[in-house]
Amino acid sequence: MYQGCYGICTSPSVLTALSVAINQVFMNIISNAIDALSNYNSQRPSAEIYLNLNRIWITTEIIGANCVIRIADNGSGMTEEVKKRLFDPFFITKAVGKGTGLGLSISYQIIVEKHGGTLKCLSEIGQGTEFLIEIPLDFNKEITSSKQSTGVWTKSSGSEKIT
Ligand SMILES: Nc1ncnc2c1ncn2[C@@H]1O[C@H](COP(=O)(O)OP(=O)(O)OP(=O)(O)O)[C@@H](O)[C@H]1O
Ligand SMILES: [Mg+2]
Repeated sequence: MYQGCYGICTSPSVLTALSVAINQVFMNIISNAIDALSNYNSQRPSAEIYLNLNRIWITTEIIGANCVIRIADNGSGMTEEVKKRLFDPFFITKAVGKGTGLGLSISYQIIVEKHGGTLKCLSEIGQGTEFLIEIPLDFNKEITSSKQSTGVWTKSSGSEKIT
């Protein structure tokens, strides 16, 4: 496995990914879920909060040649308008000072452009939200061919590392 990378999942398969970048994606999607739950709670009476407790589910599995990671919450969900603009840079519905609106556009670039994967969102108002991240297990091959153009990788004594 490359230095500066880590494995997610899974016996017998191991996904090799750019660890710093992938952590940024997870942190953003999870903190968005926490914000959505907190925002949802502020609009609900406590009795309803107790009946339908806040939850965040994180699952990983191998499907075909991909590692699939799902991060779901049972928060407020999104309107169609929000879903359409979700991955646009600077799109934000949070209060001023609560974010930059860049988290998902950067996450999209990391998953799609740097890892050759897909990032999708399923959401319904009042039902919650699920982000679906798919990363090819043969990502190793993709970073070998893309490292020159992205500038993320350098060669060091025959091994690769993130700079
Ligand atoms: N799990 C979610 N539930 C409901 N809405 C969400 C969820 N995740 C994202 N959103 C919506 O998508 C918008 C864009 O999210 P994004 O992560 O790009 O920016 P941000 O969280 O507002 O700011 P930043 O990530 O830069 O701090 C959010 O403002 C919010 O409206
Ligand atoms: Mg965010």
